[in-house]
Amino acid sequence: MPDIDSLIVELDKGLRSVFGVAHAVRPMPGSDLEAPDLSGEERRDAAALMRVNHCGEICAQALYQGQALASGNADLRRALAHAAREEEDHLAWTEQRIAELGGRTSLLNPLWYAGSLAIGFAAGKFGDAWNLGFLKETEKQVELHLQGHLDRLSEKDGRTRAVVAAMQRDEAGHARTAEALGAKELPLAVKSLMRATARLMTASSYWL
Ligand SMILES: [Fe+2]
Ligand SMILES: [Fe+2]
Repeated sequence: MPDIDSLIVELDKGLRSVFGVAHAVRPMPGSDLEAPDLSGEERRDAAALMRVNHCGEICAQALYQGQALASGNADLRRALAHAAREEEDHLAWTEQRIAELGGRTSLLNPLWYAGSLAIGFAAGKFGDAWNLGFLKETEKQVELHLQGHLDRLSEKDGRTRAVVAAMQRDEAGHARTAEALGAKELPLAVKSLMRATARLMTASSYWL
């Protein structure tokens, strides 16, 4: 069982994630670019896509926390903490970009946070190799998902695109880290279930 101190630390991180006071260590990519002249529809769509990504980053925080709490391996916990730090940048950047676009974050964030924490903890209980396998697969799916956003976002919207591209690079790095630490390849059925869950998250947070 995780000790009470780490539980309190994770709970604090969780509350900060869900209630939107994430702080980026790295400046938001693209913040030096001029604000693009977007149509109303382009702006609304970009804000909704970033709302989806913000919700995804909330889930990432919760998954990492759940996995870290469940694992007794110090190396793994360190790797998870490092990745989670980068995910916090993502959280802050998406939040900032949503505000710039005049959008809002998802009402479903607390729900997805709680679900992801439970999933992360459960994954962690299968042991390090599967825990890492789950992490690697999550990051790969996110990387692909972000490519879909890059294909869809307006070419004019350099600011949003810069954030998404930087996130995509980080997620690929997280997948490589998991691989290097000995991730197992998940069964196809598990990968499909993860994709289905992610689709539910992306579809609902686009609108809500
Ligand atoms: Fe991320
Ligand atoms: Fe990641």
